[in-house]
Amino acid sequence: VTQTESFAAVVGQADVLGDGIRLLRLMERTGKALPSWEPGAHIDVGVPGGAERQYSLCGQPGAPYWEIAVQREANGRGGSRFLCDTVRAGDQLAVRGPRNHFPLITAETYLYIAGGIGVTPLLPMAEQCGRDGRPVRFLYGARTRHSMAFLERLGQSGAELVLWPQDTKGFPPIGEEIRNMVPQAAVYCCGPSPMLAAVESACRAAGRQPPLLERFAPDAGALTDGETAAFEIELASSGEVLSVPPDKSILQVLDERGYDTDASCEEGICGTCETAVLSGVPIHRDSVLTDADHQRGDCMMICVSRAAAGTRLLLDR
Ligand code: FES
Repeated sequence: VTQTESFAAVVGQADVLGDGIRLLRLMERTGKALPSWEPGAHIDVGVPGGAERQYSLCGQPGAPYWEIAVQREANGRGGSRFLCDTVRAGDQLAVRGPRNHFPLITAETYLYIAGGIGVTPLLPMAEQCGRDGRPVRFLYGARTRHSMAFLERLGQSGAELVLWPQDTKGFPPIGEEIRNMVPQAAVYCCGPSPMLAAVESACRAAGRQPPLLERFAPDAGALTDGETAAFEIELASSGEVLSVPPDKSILQVLDERGYDTDASCEEGICGTCETAVLSGVPIHRDSVLTDADHQRGDCMMICVSRAAAGTRLLLDR
């Protein structure tokens, strides 16, 4: 179930999990159950100033409430400071979702690699594998042992847990872990960009399938790739043709024209603005769709992706 409109949820409980991490439990205002979700799903949470932030759901998928863990970023844009410092139990937050661009695929065995708060989407996956009797190795790197959240749940998940506090052990042994996994293993990673890059290159070096990645920030290369020239879009519902100039996104052009659009991160990482492409060839600049999705070319993130100069995309909207 995906709720595309945002709605108010009540903060039922707000606990400190460890060094700068806060667990927020969100409940439906009238006591109804919130939509269920699959491991890897995230929600959008409204923060002051009208912005939204994305948080992976990290509780139990069948529970009537949602749980998110927020890492306080002292030098961030302010959303995490608001959620960690200001929000109290009983407050209401605008939320939207769940949405899942990081699904748990079926594999013989799994290697999960988490960096810091990147543990949040991988924890429910490891627990699901544990319930299904599928073997998991879980490499968890973080600044210090004290900054690691969810150690008890991870310990109970049945995963073979490798904890890697970087203050005493240095950067996690990603290449070695990936080389040691059987070829049929699914490799997942969520963490900061250097960790994601290390996992991608280790998979490439080992001749494996690309890893499944969840990013906190856009892939460094993605937003600078490809064209920035003008092109056209045609809207299947109305037949209207609009020009997208070099300095604007499709999303901005649609907004300005008064169309109802759905967007959240506007950086190509959350998947909210996904739009089906009926004809034409998009130039993808998002960090959420897989390479296979990009090659199929039948959908795109209209907040960042474009088309070649002078070409036209027919969009299903
Ligand atoms: S709004 Fe997040 S991917 Fe486009």
